[in-house]
Amino acid sequence: MIIHMNAKLIGIGTTLVILAIVVAVVFVPHATFEAAHRPSDDYRPLTTLEMQGRKLYLKNGCNNCHTQYIRAVDWGLGAERLAQAGDYFGQTPPMLGSIRTGPDLSQVGGEHTDDWHAAHFHNPRYPRPESIMPNFGFFSPAELRASIAYMQSLGFRAADARVRRQLAWREKAMAAYAAGIDQNIRWLHDLVPQGWRDVPNPYPATEVSLGRGATIYQRWCLGCHGPVGDGQGPAAAFLYPPPLNFTTLARHADSSGGLLYYQIMNGITGTAMPYLKRELESEKIWDVSNYLAQYFIGNNDANLEPKGIDAAYEPAAKEP
Ligand code: HEC
Ligand code: HEC
Repeated sequence: MIIHMNAKLIGIGTTLVILAIVVAVVFVPHATFEAAHRPSDDYRPLTTLEMQGRKLYLKNGCNNCHTQYIRAVDWGLGAERLAQAGDYFGQTPPMLGSIRTGPDLSQVGGEHTDDWHAAHFHNPRYPRPESIMPNFGFFSPAELRASIAYMQSLGFRAADARVRRQLAWREKAMAAYAAGIDQNIRWLHDLVPQGWRDVPNPYPATEVSLGRGATIYQRWCLGCHGPVGDGQGPAAAFLYPPPLNFTTLARHADSSGGLLYYQIMNGITGTAMPYLKRELESEKIWDVSNYLAQYFIGNNDANLEPKGIDAAYEPAAKEP
């Protein structure tokens, strides 16, 4: 039999080919890809408030700058937990995102306290002076609550555990703050293991180290602890307990070296004080500790004779 090609036949043939492709790449996987129909172990449904926050996330285009998936190649935020199909159970549309102008948010729940988020939404440059995220100060109080609730839900059960931990520590931090300035400092210092407190600053407080410390301070700390270290940065109005007034540390002789390092590296759980081990390498933490110790506390135990003299060595600003 000879089949003569004509418009009708070509039309039917093309439609059949396209149908076959759609069945093979859309319907067959959809019917057989079981994982997408099953929630992951970590998954839990969002509450009504969290769902409202999710709508605001979509409406304000947060997904244009933030992703919500972690792959094996991603280091940093939440890389302990790779994204699984079941994490997106029942979400339409899933907030995968494709651009990371800002960090991935899939595990941000419990990373920060609610008051940190309130300051950050109002103006991201308050807690993070160099942020390029837009202000969301126009959120109504109800929208702010919903957005914070949604942020704290990201990471599902793992996030819930982190949030519970933050809240438990928050009670202690608030009680310590309410007890008075010096009691609060004692409480903060008692959190630091003795081994760390005995570590002296291994870097000399050279002019360059102090200069680097000043830059790091402006980039990461000034919005909370304030330009003169008195805890009166613009974020302070949002935070309780408020950022520490470093000048009060002068009354506590142990306020230097490893103690500052430990607090800056790990942050203070339950308060807005973030951990900075992800953003600042070891030497940068020592540089900013030098800066605090020298200018705000007036008690710098920095080594003036460094152990390994490297190419960056230069004599200390103040010889002993
Ligand atoms: C123009 C891009 C942009 C948009 C739009 C944007 N962000 Fe961001 N976001 C950033 C950048 C950059 C950072 C990192 C600096 C910082 O913390 O502010 C960030 C940080 C964050 C953080 C802190 C993450 C962490 O690990 O500390 C959260 C939470 C956040 N954004 C939530 C949101 C939400 C919710 C929206 C929408 C209401 C939003 N962002 C819209 C760019 C953006
Ligand atoms: C988002 C606000 C915020 C930012 C940003 C911030 N801090 Fe803090 N910091 C706090 C708060 C709040 C406390 C005190 C908590 C308390 O009293 O319970 C604190 C406490 C501290 C302490 C504890 C001191 C002690 O004696 O135990 C140190 C050290 C410190 N901050 C250093 C820094 C440095 C250095 C930076 C920048 C690299 C920084 N902080 C950035 C909010 C912030």
